[in-house]
Amino acid sequence: MNRSPNNVTIDLSALKDNLIKIRELVGKKTKIMGIVKSDAYGHGLIPVARELEKNHIDSLAVDYLSEAIKLRNAGVNIPVVILLGIGTPQEAKKVAGYDLIPIIYDIESARILSEVGKRSGRAVKVYLKIDTGMGRLGIDFRETGLFVKQLKEMNGITIEGLFSHLSSADEQDTLFTNAQIENFKKAIYVSRRLGLKLTMNSLANSAGIMRYKKSHFDIVRPGIILYGGLPCPDFVNPPSLRHVMAFYSRVMQVRNVEHGTSISYGRTFFTDTSRKIAIISAGYANGLSRSLSNKGGLLIHGQKARIIGRVCMNLTIADVTGIKGVKKGDRVCFLGKEKGNAISSDDIARWADTISYEVLCSLGSRNDREYIN
Ligand SMILES: Cc1ncc(COP(=O)(O)O)c(C=O)c1O
Repeated sequence: MNRSPNNVTIDLSALKDNLIKIRELVGKKTKIMGIVKSDAYGHGLIPVARELEKNHIDSLAVDYLSEAIKLRNAGVNIPVVILLGIGTPQEAKKVAGYDLIPIIYDIESARILSEVGKRSGRAVKVYLKIDTGMGRLGIDFRETGLFVKQLKEMNGITIEGLFSHLSSADEQDTLFTNAQIENFKKAIYVSRRLGLKLTMNSLANSAGIMRYKKSHFDIVRPGIILYGGLPCPDFVNPPSLRHVMAFYSRVMQVRNVEHGTSISYGRTFFTDTSRKIAIISAGYANGLSRSLSNKGGLLIHGQKARIIGRVCMNLTIADVTGIKGVKKGDRVCFLGKEKGNAISSDDIARWADTISYEVLCSLGSRNDREYIN
């Protein structure tokens, strides 16, 4: 069998170090829920979850019931939260059977879960999703009281805490995030006055963890910083994190081309002198954004080379004129470290006008993954 020339490596020791860093940032009293949705941001759901559990993370969160069941079937025992909740009685039964914690954001799903909880004789744990300003899933924070009053009449569910999401904690302007934090406090206050205990309130994502201590509440929810990325490419004053993912490819051919040669589809690049170019065996089908055409960079022999012309489905071209001894079969680093130089997912995100989340999910899901450390 032909081994792919492209591979993603996942360094589990970096994941562990990032978790330790997050613990330092939030302090001992605050719990940590690791966000492992979307195949752990492309890093592999099960290996990542196992490593986090081994290093005493408090809980995990995924988007769907199916992901949560995969975790249980792999022997993951810590609490698992389903961020997008459930919709049917069959799903509710599975939630109870696998001891999972869905988010609820409407009365219908609360009723379904309450019925299952009553019938099984063991209350189903839930979180209430409150919209404090994200403008997405949830109950408007001003309607928290109304919602809680309806839930209080139901048996068979235990409300662990309120849950809300920050929309712009990575941005310089702090006004809106501070307002979201205040709205969340109001929702907690109202719920407690109505008799809810609420021991697990949760608001902070990675940006909240790094920039707003007062957004931490009982349990924080880091995603991107667990994997060593940042919420936006130009995040100010980031803590030192380690990149968990690296992506390598190979040189397929080295050519000397003359001045005025057009490179790749659409002839968007012409050499201005005679150049040495390397044709590399990875393209957008391997998760490299086509937006890196004429913008991105990579490392060969630890030296930076720029991408020229359009990124193709399975090939990319780089100008390696200044790099000595490049030959067929040489390793190419698109993401990661090589001989003292590095390219981060935030560098790639900046070149491609996106965010590190998309870079990691794309590369991680489209290539063979190898786990190290
Ligand atoms: C509800 C919720 N909480 C936490 C996170 C983690 O966010 P981040 O990766 O920015 O830390 C996400 C990710 O989008 C999310 O949807």
